[in-house]
Amino acid sequence: MKAQDIRLSFLKFFEKRGHTIVPSSSLLSDDPSVLLTTAGMQQFKPYYSQKADPMTSPHPSLSGKPLGSYSVASIQKSFRTTDIDEVGDATHLTFFEMLGNFSFGGYFKEQAITLAHEYFQEIGVELDFVTVFAGDDEAPKDTESEALWKQRGVQDVRHYDRDDNFWGPTGEEGPCGPCTELYVNGVEVWNLVFNEYYKKDGKYEPLKVRGVDTGMGFERLAIALQGASSVFETDLFQPLMRKIGDGFTEEQKRILADHSRASAFLLSDGVRPANKEAGYILRRLIRRALVLYYLKHKQEGANESAIRTSIPEFFGALFAIIEKEYGFFYTGLSASRIQEEFMKEAEAFLKTLSAGVRQLRKMDTMTAKDAFSLYERFGLPYEVIREIAPEKVQSISYEDFQKEQEKHREASKRGAEAKFGGHGLVLNTGELKARTQEEVAQVTQLHTATHLLQAVLRSVLGSTVKQAGSDITAERLRFDFSFDRRLTDEEVQQVEALVNEYIESDMSVRCEEMPYEEAVKSGALYFEKETYPQAVKVYSIGEVSQELCGGPHIQHTGELKGFRIVKQESVSAGVRRIRAVVDGVAQ
Ligand code: SER
Repeated sequence: MKAQDIRLSFLKFFEKRGHTIVPSSSLLSDDPSVLLTTAGMQQFKPYYSQKADPMTSPHPSLSGKPLGSYSVASIQKSFRTTDIDEVGDATHLTFFEMLGNFSFGGYFKEQAITLAHEYFQEIGVELDFVTVFAGDDEAPKDTESEALWKQRGVQDVRHYDRDDNFWGPTGEEGPCGPCTELYVNGVEVWNLVFNEYYKKDGKYEPLKVRGVDTGMGFERLAIALQGASSVFETDLFQPLMRKIGDGFTEEQKRILADHSRASAFLLSDGVRPANKEAGYILRRLIRRALVLYYLKHKQEGANESAIRTSIPEFFGALFAIIEKEYGFFYTGLSASRIQEEFMKEAEAFLKTLSAGVRQLRKMDTMTAKDAFSLYERFGLPYEVIREIAPEKVQSISYEDFQKEQEKHREASKRGAEAKFGGHGLVLNTGELKARTQEEVAQVTQLHTATHLLQAVLRSVLGSTVKQAGSDITAERLRFDFSFDRRLTDEEVQQVEALVNEYIESDMSVRCEEMPYEEAVKSGALYFEKETYPQAVKVYSIGEVSQELCGGPHIQHTGELKGFRIVKQESVSAGVRRIRAVVDGVAQ
């Protein structure tokens, strides 16, 4: 049976039995407890707790019409991040489709079991066995479901505990309850949840109106009905797998197929690549797919620009297949729009990828912090680092990487508070802001690094470079300067290398007071936008830098550790901005 025929047979079966057919909701869920939709019941959550009424409340997926029935069925676009790491084997996916029928105050166990069993009989799926909830301290054994299965002639009924046979809620709060599961070829295919409880603040309260929430893995059903040995052999993936073609390992083909399909669906639902939340999941998928493509062509000896120019064609062809295979069932899947957004991310990634790969290959050992800094500096997510140099991240788990990311987020949050809150700042020169003595030490280091940076920019890019602005928080320096184009990767590396050389040579930092005129005549740099007093301080660093400045500064450049440019951007025409950090400062 073809995938599309399975979808239609499911919906028709339930429509004939009084269910309203409801289109899939977006992957960007309304349910605030999750980032992305993970189950079909999410768009129906309010009906279980009677916060919405099936007969009167407008339903978003029905253009605001009420459900008009206590039973509904849907095929839901779903996404689970827990399996991202496993993709590449025969079974795991990120994006998947979930077939489901639901009842809120309508039918309960008996009819739910009957419907599921009859649907399997109708489409010719043979059951291996079923499972029921074994019971524990919080909820009793489900003897009723066991008896119902046996009455239907299913004798192999196994008792599974809470880990397997108690479902929900999604997130911290919502309907949940024991389940009974249908197994085919040793795999759980359909999960019938009997929502009897509402979990809130860690407590289970009985639901006034009991409900049914079923979810069947569409891909698993397709495997069974098509006699395939894996989902990648079903017609859901075959056209994609064929197009991806030779030269990749089977595992790489599966990752490319899964990630391009998932990215297409996320993009079509309005998710955009970002550094956090759903956007970060999407970014990881896109970048991993791109790096697989990139590495393969590198290995085959292609040059950078040939790889770049072939990317739109390769991924564009995959998106066209996705639109063709799925577009008649799910709205909004436009290959050209998906491609446009995908390419924006691809271009951003490719700008730093080769520098990132070079840097990664140079590193002999790596800590979680180093790994995260490769993301921060070159946009290499964990999976991409692992793809390029698996041996280097062997001892670093994704959780370690995430912890570094969390630390970094906290630090940026603190930075933002210090900057915008302005509360309790112990130092605020306008340019430098610190809330504690520890932060004063940090901004002082970054301040001296800023002077080194300006001197080095002028020696690498020429003396037209002039300061246009500077802002220093405990986490980073931000330096604006006049220059009319983006720095090349080589220039960025040169600047970093020279600043680091000056740090290593441990130059002393001196301060002299003198009249303004004299200071300017001496050739010391000054900031044109600033008005200076009659008597000014001039800070010098060895022989390389002289600036009019109010301080504070460190005394020796050797107090700084490695200097890194984190980001460069354009502020306005002719003005560039660099963000940089020094190691050892709160990152
Ligand atoms: N909510 C249950 C699941 O996701 C059944 O739909 O498995």
